Amino acid sequence: MKINVRKGKLTEVTTEAAVVTHFEGEAGLGGAAAKLNEKCGGFISEIISQGDFTGRLHQISVIYSHGCLPAKRLVVVGLGKRVDFSPERLRGAFSKAAQQIRSLNVSELATSLDFGSIDLALDRATEAVVEGVLLGLYQYTPFKTIDRESIREMSEFTILDGEESAVKAIRNAAKTAEIVSEAVLFARDIVSAPANEMTPTDLANEAKASAKGRNIQCRVFDTEEIKELGMNALLGVSLGSEQPPRFIVLEYRGGKKSSPFIALVGKGITFDSGGISIKPSEKMDQMKTDMAGGAAVIAAVRAAAELGLPMNLVGLVPATENLPGGKAYKPGDILKSLSGQTIEIVTTDAEGRLILADALTYAGRYKPAAIIDLATLTGACIVALGDHVIGMMGTDDELKQEIREAAAVTGEKVWELPLWEEYDELIKGDAADFKNSGGRAGGAITAGAFLSKFTGGYPWVHLDIAGPAWLTKEKPYIPKGASGVGVRLLVRFLRNRYREGKRR
Ligand code: BES
Ligand code: MN
Ligand code: ZN
Repeated sequence: MKINVRKGKLTEVTTEAAVVTHFEGEAGLGGAAAKLNEKCGGFISEIISQGDFTGRLHQISVIYSHGCLPAKRLVVVGLGKRVDFSPERLRGAFSKAAQQIRSLNVSELATSLDFGSIDLALDRATEAVVEGVLLGLYQYTPFKTIDRESIREMSEFTILDGEESAVKAIRNAAKTAEIVSEAVLFARDIVSAPANEMTPTDLANEAKASAKGRNIQCRVFDTEEIKELGMNALLGVSLGSEQPPRFIVLEYRGGKKSSPFIALVGKGITFDSGGISIKPSEKMDQMKTDMAGGAAVIAAVRAAAELGLPMNLVGLVPATENLPGGKAYKPGDILKSLSGQTIEIVTTDAEGRLILADALTYAGRYKPAAIIDLATLTGACIVALGDHVIGMMGTDDELKQEIREAAAVTGEKVWELPLWEEYDELIKGDAADFKNSGGRAGGAITAGAFLSKFTGGYPWVHLDIAGPAWLTKEKPYIPKGASGVGVRLLVRFLRNRYREGKRR
């Protein structure tokens, strides 16, 4: 979709749909809504006074202008109560408005960011609106062959402002939001892809393609190289599959040579059957999403490079299937990880922490200023926090605080779980150093505790995205299915830490 930012007025623009907002329960209109209303003899105040429209969050009214404006339709969207206003609500409201407009078979919309005295910086408002529209209109259709003509796509979104200086600021913020949103959509696409079309090799090819032309170096290790490196935990998980594993390394060097790397590590299980400890068949199809952490990492590196953030960043994605088979690793096996530490396999379904262990150890080669891993790691995290929350664990309070601050901006929900030393007892191995499952109690935490043993003492945060990676019910700007969770969070964290860079 093309995003235009221009000098102009919503009352004067020729568009199929001019979008304005209204706060719930307010009799008076503000901002652009007031101006359009005035020009058209009070047709918005009328739907409010008649009770047709209250401004309830996501409520939408479409009014035909009949020539009182160059705009053909006026779309009024409710923002809910003014006291509850947030950028998150703005994202949701604009997403809903855009979805409604698309359903009318209209392919273009325009708005201005004049919402009538709200306390939100122009760049933040721009980002929220652009994100809402781009993320809310997502649909995954490459495998739909019947009736493709009925798939509706929007082509243009225009933002207007009367002031040249504001236009510049909006244009900048819109470009940033577009880069970040496109990265989220990219992540959603690779998570949505079925496992037969998104093997470890395919995922590595996606990483390579995303590096191309973007100042990112991509290196992919194949089975032989993984063996040579000594990543036996990753290798062990891969043995049951005919598909060879891949270890994906993406380097973006946007900072000074001397400045340290941030390492992002993402779980890249392209299908998790559970292996020999096979999962129940119900909902097993959802396990194509077990590479959502890896997808988020690839997408975040891509966005950081496109934004030209002044920093050095490495993305690491261990990728493999987890299948049963004659060569598969088995409960009771012991694997010697890249760190040299040994791991006893209690269940082959706790595979994510194994491949992450090797990737976390590999991250140590960069002597990173911080390591952040993202993984659809445990069902236990969903049990603990529900399916809309990211479980956070980590060793560095400042880093955790930075993640919280980033999440507060992006609307992704993060909640910390403790890593007290009592949990270590549960993952002590009998014959080996560690075991790969601590049992049911505190399952999300013992998984985190396990990972902590492979972080080499670097500041580290683990984000368990098992819940929010895949939505069974849509949210205001996340259609059901792959959410792309973590991408905006990571990029916001990096932007906060390194401020804005020069775009390239
Ligand atoms: N990929 C799963 C976790 C998962 C479950 C993600 C549901 C998304 C939705 C992971 O590999 C797994 O199987 N974890 C096990 C660990 C247990 C065997 C120790 C789990 O959570 O049941
Ligand atoms: Mn598993
Ligand atoms: Zn898994």
